[in-house]
Amino acid sequence: MSEGRGITVLAICGSLRQGSFNKAALRAAIEEKPPGMTIETADIGSIPLYNEDVRALGFPPPVERLRGQIAAADALLFVTPEYNYSMPGVLKNAIDWASRPPDQPFAGKPVAIMGAGAGMAGTARANTICAGAASFSTCTR
Ligand SMILES: Cc1cc2nc3c(=O)[nH]c(=O)nc-3n(C[C@H](O)[C@H](O)[C@H](O)COP(=O)(O)O)c2cc1C
Repeated sequence: MSEGRGITVLAICGSLRQGSFNKAALRAAIEEKPPGMTIETADIGSIPLYNEDVRALGFPPPVERLRGQIAAADALLFVTPEYNYSMPGVLKNAIDWASRPPDQPFAGKPVAIMGAGAGMAGTARANTICAGAASFSTCTR
């Protein structure tokens, strides 16, 4: 974060659907953000399924875009529903792509994780798994 410019947070939401509660929670977080904070939202809906053969030919444009957004952000906010006691595949897939070398952009980024769900545990299990994936990419939680 450069002096006087505030903090830029990149939010990555694990639900793609229009009426998503997690997207709604993210909108609420954006409304309530403190002064000086900018929250940008990543679009992970067009990222292809991870394939090492594809990566060997170069990152697809939506992945390049996401990696650039992550690199430019001061901090990350994962917003995740819980799917089958885990995080949704679309979110894990985006993390998998972005975490690959060279210059993996997660390194040293502070991360916050939130989620909305109807179950008694909220999204606790998804959050824990998301935290594990984030820490593997050497984020600081
Ligand atoms: C494939 C699938 C698996 C789900 N598994 C869980 C689960 O393990 N625990 C839970 O509390 N809710 C589970 N749900 C319910 C979702 O958390 C709920 O639909 C939530 O609203 C999805 O987030 P969204 O509204 O942001 O799209 C599951 C939903 C789907 C589609």
